[in-house]
Amino acid sequence: MRKVKPVAADRLPELLRRMPKAELHIHIEGSLEPELIFALAPRNGVKIPYASVEDLRRAYAFTNLQSFLDIYYAGASVLLKEQDFYDMARAYLLKAAQDNVVHAELFFDPQTHTARGVSMETVIHGLHRACADAQAELGISASLILCFLRHLSEEDAFETLEQALPYRDKFIGVGLDSSEVGNPPEKFARVFARCRELGLHRVAHAGEEGPPAYVWTALDLLKVERIDHGVQSGRDAALMQRLAADRIPLTVCPLSNLKLCVFPDLASHNLRQLLDAGLVATVNSDDPAYFGGYMNENFTQTFAATGLSSQHAYTLARNSFAASFIDAATRQRLIGRLDETFDTFQ
Ligand code: ADE
Ligand code: ZN
Repeated sequence: MRKVKPVAADRLPELLRRMPKAELHIHIEGSLEPELIFALAPRNGVKIPYASVEDLRRAYAFTNLQSFLDIYYAGASVLLKEQDFYDMARAYLLKAAQDNVVHAELFFDPQTHTARGVSMETVIHGLHRACADAQAELGISASLILCFLRHLSEEDAFETLEQALPYRDKFIGVGLDSSEVGNPPEKFARVFARCRELGLHRVAHAGEEGPPAYVWTALDLLKVERIDHGVQSGRDAALMQRLAADRIPLTVCPLSNLKLCVFPDLASHNLRQLLDAGLVATVNSDDPAYFGGYMNENFTQTFAATGLSSQHAYTLARNSFAASFIDAATRQRLIGRLDETFDTFQ
């Protein structure tokens, strides 16, 4: 890794904001702000059991992953039309561009919508159009990753894959999310094998709340290229060695981990431990509308709490490009922009 100049603590937030970066772990339904929920509900005739934006925000006090997921799936019930999916993704991409995110890989949960009678076409067309417009108008590249809900069956995942294949050109890969404990990666081994045959990229949430064993099976049975979260890997020295040796990226989400009580406070987060062990860790926002911050908030709050340096900042931004599914020429161009930012930062 390139050595960079030290930067005083009071100047670090500016550097963190200014550096170009990629976001690789954002559930687009988790970017649905209360204000947009309250705009979409009357537009679509959907009733929500909260009196106001403030009332809804007050409900965002989570104790673990499941307590969040219950509210997150309820929030997504206001999404019905293609334009709704467009508006949600557009709002996220505008915020991301302001944070100097130059490339984003967006997770979406089609089963949350198809179960309510919304068609796969509606979901994918709305999201994809927002990605295409963002590239043209904001200069940010964005692609889609279809996530299977792991609390549902593998058969349901296969059916979802079938429904999505007519739009194969509009998503680059598949992921695995929702309730982790009790739903190990091996439950989805066959559908991930099929996705591999289809040439799709593969990622999975593992080691968020679940044990290191789930990270092992995501790697060995699902043959994933990245691990989403993966912070529990810190408890297994052999796994840490494997992740470092194979350069398997972890898409870490510090504010998510804080809000879902994975760590008691940000100062106790193990991001530094992961970086010091040579892992390709990245910083991401997960569900920014629910966890109190988009990309730059994740960076600035985590650096303030844990005392990470300009060298860590460079490593994390560079890792985000190394871990992304962009082509090699684009990766080199973006790393060039990153280097220039660090070279000229005063
Ligand atoms: N879906 C949205 N956010 C998630 C998270 N942090 N873990 C698992 N599934 C999710
Ligand atoms: Zn996630």
